[in-house]
Amino acid sequence: IIACFSLLFITKGVNTIVSKNGLSNYSFPDKFMFGVATAAFQIEGAWNEDGKGESMWDTYLHKHPNFTVDHTNGDLAADSYHKYKQDIIMIKSLGVKYYRMSMSWPRILPNGTDHYINKAGVRHYRKVLLELIEAKITPVVTLYHWDLPTALMDLGGWTNPKMVDYFEDYARVVFSLFGDIVKIWTSINELHVHCYNGYDLNNFVPAMKSHGVGFYLCSHYMLLGHARVYHLYDKEFRPKQKGKIGVTLDAFYAEPKDSNNKEDVDAAERYLQMHLGLYAHPIYSKEGDYPALVRERIDTMSKIQGYPRSRLPVFTPEEVEMIRGTSDFFGLNHYTTILASPSSMEPGWSVPSLDHDTGVKSDQDPKWPIPGADWLAVYPPGLRKLVNWITRNYGTRVPIIVTENGVSDFGGLNDYVRVSYYNKYLYQLLLAMHEDGCRVDGYFAWTLMDDFEWSDGYSIKFGLFHVDFNSTEKKRTPKLSALNYREIMRTRRINF
Ligand code: NOJ
Repeated sequence: IIACFSLLFITKGVNTIVSKNGLSNYSFPDKFMFGVATAAFQIEGAWNEDGKGESMWDTYLHKHPNFTVDHTNGDLAADSYHKYKQDIIMIKSLGVKYYRMSMSWPRILPNGTDHYINKAGVRHYRKVLLELIEAKITPVVTLYHWDLPTALMDLGGWTNPKMVDYFEDYARVVFSLFGDIVKIWTSINELHVHCYNGYDLNNFVPAMKSHGVGFYLCSHYMLLGHARVYHLYDKEFRPKQKGKIGVTLDAFYAEPKDSNNKEDVDAAERYLQMHLGLYAHPIYSKEGDYPALVRERIDTMSKIQGYPRSRLPVFTPEEVEMIRGTSDFFGLNHYTTILASPSSMEPGWSVPSLDHDTGVKSDQDPKWPIPGADWLAVYPPGLRKLVNWITRNYGTRVPIIVTENGVSDFGGLNDYVRVSYYNKYLYQLLLAMHEDGCRVDGYFAWTLMDDFEWSDGYSIKFGLFHVDFNSTEKKRTPKLSALNYREIMRTRRINF
């Protein structure tokens, strides 16, 4: 704390953003981990090659081709399964030293369980990892980025407590096969987005609209699954492999619509607690468990709807202990901010959901640009505020690593919108670090190249590199934002 304050004091007077040569006055420390991120299902393609099993996204999109806005699926994606060498050359050309990727569970365990390991899948990831090491790029590997094996989805997916065991079995296989090379792991990507969109809203696979029940079950078992895998690594693998393991949580920042209005201020805090605190509190707070505000809210809403037993499951005291402190860093995915005010939904509204339980109406400020996906409004100070909110709530025991941040548009190589987005968001991160004393150790741009954007298919683009999805060779071309990112890597400053 003393260090934070003295840092604050020293840097207080410095408020000019830019030095004479156009570079930001603040810079990223040499040890700061800069990287780019991707996810297996979004780039690999090769959906049924070399013994890979089906993921729930494969199966569902083949059955429901209209589920994505452009009626596409991930069968080919950017064909990174075959083009990984090119991808690694691209990563290297950016000058980043870290690459966050995920492994496809059904590529390694086609039926989801460890009864059968697909050797070709293992060989593939081994080749990718060795190629990265050869290029002096450190891999950061996510075990689960949403592509659940269909065989396990058939058992109810993350609403089934057995998933905790299956996830642990899968993790054991992965740690023992790749832990000699991979030293930074994240267990699960974005618990909230996955459970909310997949088990509550119906717009991601498994598209299970479960009336505010599936969302909490999914969240609950994912927290347990994450913690199990953390302990597995910590006890059985860390002593030899000496790596780190954490989790990746996501959050929009929520700003009160009117900061003078107490109800709006409460709504913004409630939004952050229900979306982020739900996961962060059990893992990062001193006392563990779901935040009191979240528990009270869901218990009350359940009662109002006529259910005396809350829809939010309860952790045993042993489980609270098991989950507490299970992350070596705070992996944070952040994209946008909303304006919060109390929602006018009737408390006894007949279809329970997270939105209903949260009771927040979320708006976008008309001044914030929306260059691509309708949910992604550009508000750079949101990142600084969110990083401060996390630091205030959970302290600095572990560093924050921004595991994803980026913006979508509709394409084009001259992506000025993306250049400006990265410059401005990264500058806000510098302010959080240098002026507010927050502990941030890394940043990963989302994403290396245009890819399969879940239910938006290929209709919106997030890449630093353009991918020509119409060509059979899926040609990659750097965008302006790639060149800009390379400059940031070179100077460790923002070039305004
Ligand atoms: C976060 C997810 O982890 C990633 O898969 C997705 O493409 C980006 N958000 C953009 O929506």
